[in-house]
Amino acid sequence: MKLHLIILAVFTLSIPTVSASAKSLDFALGKALFDRIWTPAPASTDATDGLGPLFNARSCVSCHPAGGRGQFKESINGDISGLGLIVRIGNSIGEGDPTYGIQLQTHGVQGLRAEGIRTRKEDGSLSAENLAFGPADAGTKFGGRLATTLQGIGLLERVSETSIRAWADPDDTDNDGVSGRINSIMNSQGVKTIGRFGSKAGKASLYDQSAAALHTDLGLSNSVHREHFGDCTETQNKCRTAPNGASTRFENLEIGSEMMRLIVTYVSRLKPPKPTHNEVDGLTVFTETGCAACHRPSLPLSDGKTISAYTDLLLHDMGAELADGIGDGSASGSEWRTPPLWGLSKATRYLHDGRAKSVREAIEWHGGEAKRAKNTFTKLSEQQQKRLLNYLKGL
Ligand code: HEC
Ligand code: HEC
Repeated sequence: MKLHLIILAVFTLSIPTVSASAKSLDFALGKALFDRIWTPAPASTDATDGLGPLFNARSCVSCHPAGGRGQFKESINGDISGLGLIVRIGNSIGEGDPTYGIQLQTHGVQGLRAEGIRTRKEDGSLSAENLAFGPADAGTKFGGRLATTLQGIGLLERVSETSIRAWADPDDTDNDGVSGRINSIMNSQGVKTIGRFGSKAGKASLYDQSAAALHTDLGLSNSVHREHFGDCTETQNKCRTAPNGASTRFENLEIGSEMMRLIVTYVSRLKPPKPTHNEVDGLTVFTETGCAACHRPSLPLSDGKTISAYTDLLLHDMGAELADGIGDGSASGSEWRTPPLWGLSKATRYLHDGRAKSVREAIEWHGGEAKRAKNTFTKLSEQQQKRLLNYLKGL
């Protein structure tokens, strides 16, 4: 009897310890995969090969340094270097280009040419030049995407769908000029659901978004995107027939399901950035200016907790100047998901394509549904504007 009790006690005590250490082991293994530098196939070890054949970077971390926002450099003539800013390709209903696919790959394995270079146009938008395989389709548009911070992103997955649906006001019934729509999409399991990740909320989950990143950014096949040649189209023969890194150890893929699970575990556990509010009245100015209509300061999670991410995860029409003409799910070319503003203190470039060099500039680009708030901001006294900007720089 006594022995039984002791065994029971040891057993009960050891459960939380074991699961806690298994959790931190998963996080560490996930981080190692996130940081891993992939190599082209064939390589001496099949655990790290399969990169490309066309790709944008060799690791997740090179675009999301320490899980944070992407970085890039821009020359005076608009040429972009650095990995954190990519060029998305598509038409108004989100179909990729018949030649270039859905993303401009700026690198290729040996023997394969990059698809082109990234360049900033005078109107602030991002485009592609020096296209390697001739002109793109007439309906194809190009647009920039700055790698977002992944810190705290797991919490956004836990904002309840009911709340997001309740915030949507597609017909602007309350007449405040702000509508907000859900991006209604199909997830990778074929279930109709709401999108919440990516600049147009085109992905339903961190799993789907990570699978797309592996496929499009790194050229690695996985359970969602099973082709080993990434974003190479039917016209890109040499790329489609290049060696791949698929292995029976990984279910004939380059990234097996256990690797996927670990990557998603790591990403979803990255802690949100810590705010350093230095301006106590900032939130009042923020709300009174109309910013909080989209950048919601407090979001309820399914478990009853709240987070301060400053988003509603909805799509808003931001007007012609920010539009890139590329659709995504049910999002139009001028609609963007309200980006979370937490982590702004670490940012140096802003907006979906990093066109704005300051928070003030980012606000000045707001149009469409956000025009009223932008106008209210420009009419604030200099002191009130400073108060608001200081508050944002402390997020
Ligand atoms: C070449 C650069 C690049 C690489 C490599 C890259 N990403 Fe990203 N990532 C981006 C960009 C750009 C975006 C923004 C996409 C958009 O705006 O639609 C993004 C967005 C994301 C998001 C959604 C963020 C949000 O705010 O909704 C997740 C999650 C993510 N990446 C995970 C990963 C993972 C996991 C890997 C590695 C498997 C990875 N990324 C590799 C550039 C990259
Ligand atoms: C109608 C909804 C809406 C309102 C109102 C609004 N925003 Fe935004 N905000 C957005 C969307 C959508 C974007 C993304 C646009 C893009 O990337 O092209 C954005 C982007 C931003 C960014 C850049 C974030 C980043 O990560 O680069 C900042 C900063 C910002 N808003 C601050 C404000 C402030 C301050 C106000 C009030 C003056 C405001 N916004 C009002 C929807 C809104």
